[in-house]
Amino acid sequence: MFEDELGPDPIAQFDEWYRQAGTDAMCLVTASADGAPSGRMVLLKGHDDRGFAFYTNFHSAKGRDLAENPKAGLVFHWLPHRQVRVTGTVERIADDEAERYWRNRPRASQLSAWASRQSEVVESRAILEARVVEVEERFPGDVPQPPFWGGFRLRPDSIEFWHHRDDRLHDRLRYRRLDVGGWIRERLAP
Ligand SMILES: Cc1cc2nc3c(=O)[nH]c(=O)nc-3n(C[C@H](O)[C@H](O)[C@H](O)COP(=O)(O)O)c2cc1C
Repeated sequence: MFEDELGPDPIAQFDEWYRQAGTDAMCLVTASADGAPSGRMVLLKGHDDRGFAFYTNFHSAKGRDLAENPKAGLVFHWLPHRQVRVTGTVERIADDEAERYWRNRPRASQLSAWASRQSEVVESRAILEARVVEVEERFPGDVPQPPFWGGFRLRPDSIEFWHHRDDRLHDRLRYRRLDVGGWIRERLAP
């Protein structure tokens, strides 16, 4: 029974499936204040009881969505059989934690973060490459963390585990966070 396969703590359960999957790409879904949704892939850069962390440009389309509407969703698809869906609220990752992650990024990634006005129209790749050359000259040593770049952590209020079954009567278990603490587990129809 699916109920017996999955443990009582959804974060620990996520961790088990995540380790088995070995991939960290997830679809991040945001919505603007007026309700227009949009999804895109980002990399999961840590998960624990506080939530799911990812890093991006605060001025990007997703960054603007999250500034005006902090409610967001995550979807993981792990071949051949599994999906995990998360909903919750994001908050910014503390400066010192984001800074530690930034320091560990390759120099080329750091320069690209400075050079790219993420989500804005750019005339050509040549313009982007010219901006990289500019920032390379500006920062010959350590590259500082851009003020417009950092992390978000999504604190889950629901986490659903889905498992494919050949008869299409797929298994779904959703954990909902309770106001009093802990989680309630519910089976959903496929
Ligand atoms: C597998 C994969 C991982 C990605 N990881 C990130 C990421 O961690 N952070 C990020 O800002 N963009 C990442 N991107 C690029 C985003 O999908 C997206 O193009 C970009 O963030 C701009 O999105 P926006 O215009 O909706 O803000 C990734 C793309 C792919 C395909």
